[in-house]
Amino acid sequence: MKWTRALALPAAAVAAVAVRDLTQKQHAILHNFPVLGHARYLLEKVGPELRQYIVTDNNDERPFSRDQRRWVYASAKRQNPYFGFGTDNDVERNEGYAVIKHRTFADVQPAVHPNVGEETPLPCAKVLGAPRGRRHAFRPASTINVSAMSYGALSGPAVEALNRGCALAGALHNTGEGGISVHHRHGADLVFQIGTAYFGCRDGRGRFDLERLKDLVAADPVRAIEVKLSQGAKPGLGGLLPAAKISEEIAQIRGIPLGEDCHSPSRHAEFSDVDSMLDFVELLAAETGLPVGIKSAVGQDDLWQDLARMMSSGDRGVDFIAVDGGEGGTGAAPLIFSDSVSLPFRLGFPQAYAAFAREGIADRVVWIGAGKLGLPENAAVAFALGVDLVNVAREAMMSIGCIQAQRCHDDRCPTGVATQNAWLTRGLDPDTKSERAANYLRSWRREMLKVAEACGVQHPGLMGGDMVDILLGTRLATPLWQTVGYDDPGWGLPSRQQQEDIRRLMVGAPEGGSAPPSATAVDAPDEGREEGAPSSGDGPARDSRIEDSATPG
Ligand SMILES: Cc1cc2nc3c(=O)[nH]c(=O)nc-3n(C[C@H](O)[C@H](O)[C@H](O)COP(=O)(O)O)c2cc1C
Ligand code: SF4
Repeated sequence: MKWTRALALPAAAVAAVAVRDLTQKQHAILHNFPVLGHARYLLEKVGPELRQYIVTDNNDERPFSRDQRRWVYASAKRQNPYFGFGTDNDVERNEGYAVIKHRTFADVQPAVHPNVGEETPLPCAKVLGAPRGRRHAFRPASTINVSAMSYGALSGPAVEALNRGCALAGALHNTGEGGISVHHRHGADLVFQIGTAYFGCRDGRGRFDLERLKDLVAADPVRAIEVKLSQGAKPGLGGLLPAAKISEEIAQIRGIPLGEDCHSPSRHAEFSDVDSMLDFVELLAAETGLPVGIKSAVGQDDLWQDLARMMSSGDRGVDFIAVDGGEGGTGAAPLIFSDSVSLPFRLGFPQAYAAFAREGIADRVVWIGAGKLGLPENAAVAFALGVDLVNVAREAMMSIGCIQAQRCHDDRCPTGVATQNAWLTRGLDPDTKSERAANYLRSWRREMLKVAEACGVQHPGLMGGDMVDILLGTRLATPLWQTVGYDDPGWGLPSRQQQEDIRRLMVGAPEGGSAPPSATAVDAPDEGREEGAPSSGDGPARDSRIEDSATPG
């Protein structure tokens, strides 16, 4: 009796915690694992102290280190994303460490306050589809967009949260190869991906169906079409959606049977080489009016050489090229493919880009990069290599709750992001998580704006290969453009006209400022200087808005 009474109080407390966990909407983990889930938050909190004595440091975990995840989580929650004490990276001994080189004297000054610049649009430096005169050419409003991830690989609430987050942040949402579902219809502009199985645009026998594609893009806010050749985590292998993740709804959207793994073939049936691929691309663009591009990992070089050579005449061409690094993510892939097939982004992208630069046509293509580029330090290097837009997959997943449990393939994702299990997905609240996705996308843009300004330019697209050095320990620092074999430090930059356009569009971006110079300053002006001097502190120096951030081309 005594025992029963002694236990009653703790049991009631546990029950109360369980009820609170089940009814709250902030944390999917607590909803899905009431009471137990608190252990994760406790460990996260005391982790830094514990790790000093036992386990790994802030940079050991993979694919994303603890520091990197902390930055994404803090950004998504609009918490202070600053870190104290100084870097804990092994800058002196890490071979290949990239260092961004700031400029001491420049016309632009980065704003200091953590949140300044979040609302600033950071549009693409190029107009997508303009060089080939596509009817629906447009300037993407955001340099960061959500990468291809299908409904099926991700849960319905996760796709909805990302779609609504993109709509809030003005970013594009790539459908992935699994077609367009109801979860994709929450306001964001879409990039429709065509994979080898032609999900969403195929006939009853699984063949590509142009009329279905036209109906689809007419019915939904599709702004561009991406023909997927391969992805970094499993190039040359096609896709796989495990049977465990195939719900009735997914089977119906894709036109596939229930209870069986769903394979996408490794190669396309509609074309078999670069020549026929360009015909296919031109057909899609002519029939839909949309910009059409390709997504590929980088392996053997002939694809890029042939494509650049055939595009150089100007008769046919892709509007964008999305290069996916071998370190990229996937819902499911064999280890050998994830680990060892296709080049990492920093080696692969320059191969593709250089082929076009040598033909003098790199500025006719919008270059998209993916492969951990949702981290500003990686993105800065990518922009210096020639990237115009960044696509993010796993970083976007983290912004909506993914904790890197790496169970995306077995339908047991504890956060409800990458599963079709009804109990687990119920914990993911699209209202809260869409805000977080938008916060993260805006934070990334803010950091990129600040780093570009620290280098003395108004937009990350104006960062060149001479603004980054690659270190070999403490012995050697080589400019990025030389390290990757570019012939000229100007490779990677848009054309002169495109540079001028983007500078004009960025007029009004918030900058930092200082107090007016003192009377003894060397270049202090005469009387009246104070009136025209920039205001002190952070905040909009001129207009608070950027004009024309998404000008249709
Ligand atoms: C769960 C998941 C599903 C994915 N599905 C697709 C897909 O359908 N099509 C595709 O081209 N890439 C797909 N990818 C690859 C991503 O679009 C992206 O290229 C890659 O993960 C690199 O970006 P990241 O490093 O930001 O994750 C998927 C990635 C993940 C993690
Ligand atoms: S929490 Fe784990 S299983 Fe879920 S999406 Fe993230 S890595 Fe995949």
